[in-house]
Amino acid sequence: MAVNPQELESFWMPFCANRDFKANPRIIESASGHYYQSVDHRKIYDLFSGLWTSGIGHCHPKIVAAVQEQVATLDFALSFQMGNVTAIKAAGKLTELAPAGFNHCFFTNSGSESVDTALKMVLAYHRVGGHAERTRLIGRERGYHGVNFGGISVGGMSPNRKMFSANLLPGVDHLPHTHNIAHTAFSRGQPQWGAHLADELERIALLHDGSNIAAVIVEPVAGSAGVIPPPVGYLERLRKICDSHGILLIFDEVITGFGRVGDSFATQRFGVMPDIITTAKGLTNGVIPMGAVLVQDHVYDRFMQGPPHAIEFLHGYTYSGHPVAAAAALAALEVYEEEGIFAQARELETLFEEALHDFRDHPKVIDVRNFGLMGAIELASIGSPGERGLAAHKKCFWEHDLVIRNGMDTLQFSPFLNSRPDDLHRAFEHVRQVIDELD
Ligand SMILES: Cc1ncc(COP(=O)(O)O)c(C=O)c1O
Repeated sequence: MAVNPQELESFWMPFCANRDFKANPRIIESASGHYYQSVDHRKIYDLFSGLWTSGIGHCHPKIVAAVQEQVATLDFALSFQMGNVTAIKAAGKLTELAPAGFNHCFFTNSGSESVDTALKMVLAYHRVGGHAERTRLIGRERGYHGVNFGGISVGGMSPNRKMFSANLLPGVDHLPHTHNIAHTAFSRGQPQWGAHLADELERIALLHDGSNIAAVIVEPVAGSAGVIPPPVGYLERLRKICDSHGILLIFDEVITGFGRVGDSFATQRFGVMPDIITTAKGLTNGVIPMGAVLVQDHVYDRFMQGPPHAIEFLHGYTYSGHPVAAAAALAALEVYEEEGIFAQARELETLFEEALHDFRDHPKVIDVRNFGLMGAIELASIGSPGERGLAAHKKCFWEHDLVIRNGMDTLQFSPFLNSRPDDLHRAFEHVRQVIDELD
């Protein structure tokens, strides 16, 4: 179905160079399995599995059927002082998949909402526990936690913050990021260097007194900043310092959840337990917007006091626990289990790592990073920063029928959790051609 320029102009597109895009738009019409179909009828391999969302491929028949059935059965029901069967079942299934001790989840509609919900939760948690002084939040440079005010305040992507600098949440500090090409370039998986950077939390705790800090939020593997795996021992050290000061630890697993790092969550993969896990994306395989905040029992339990008729946490969205989103989540979580998806993802890791690190000696490449099925190839910048990366993305799309993503000049890869090895080999041959041909 063709779109006309006026319709296209009507859509103010997110995180997009609108004028450049609209001059020569890359538009998708349909999808099936591992391929998109563009409006000019090309079959396009999706090497980004949606936007880190669609790990088991597009239009999975089980999820499609579940959504179709649900929308015809119960299209909406409020979750404020009422409930619906599907959301309750989805919550049960999600906590089954979660690490031990995470027996409660709060539904949202996106990663950004999950993050802001978690930030409000930790502030309320301390207040309910008689520690209203614990208000400071600690994020990390180059962290991405969505686009709402809480998320950009604890986030550390300076371009996303700079327009709003005076209006960010007060009382926020940032840990240093752990990316350092001089020490970690071309590390395979977790770099050996950098665990000491977690000690900055100790310095911040000394400055403000740890008793004033509510929580630390980090992505276990930073995704949007260009795949920055945690140095060996780093997350363990963060956890230890948090414990010594009574600080809660939030893992933002919007990308790393649901198999992306070869386990249900990075929490299990790294064996480091946060108090709260934020999720979205893979929760429904990207089919319907939905997020969830998973909490350890001690977090939930602390709220469950006061008179039983009183609302314990005055927070929620109209669409929290939306039945159609919940049907998609329930079906996705079942597919992950039935098809052994996380084990498949784990098996693909070596092939993926080899394919990425084959670029190590390429003259235009200055770093390669990977963890699980998250990968990045950082190109040397030429012209203005980001120009080369965007050129690569466009070349892939127009000349190689391939979707990859660029964050500035870093090419990012998020293959399907059930990718076919031959497809991955072929896709990376195209990526090589593209990089070869770039200015
Ligand atoms: C770690 C992390 N947190 C939060 C978000 C925000 O999610 P959403 O775009 O669904 O609001 C993202 C999105 O990529 C993310 O990667």
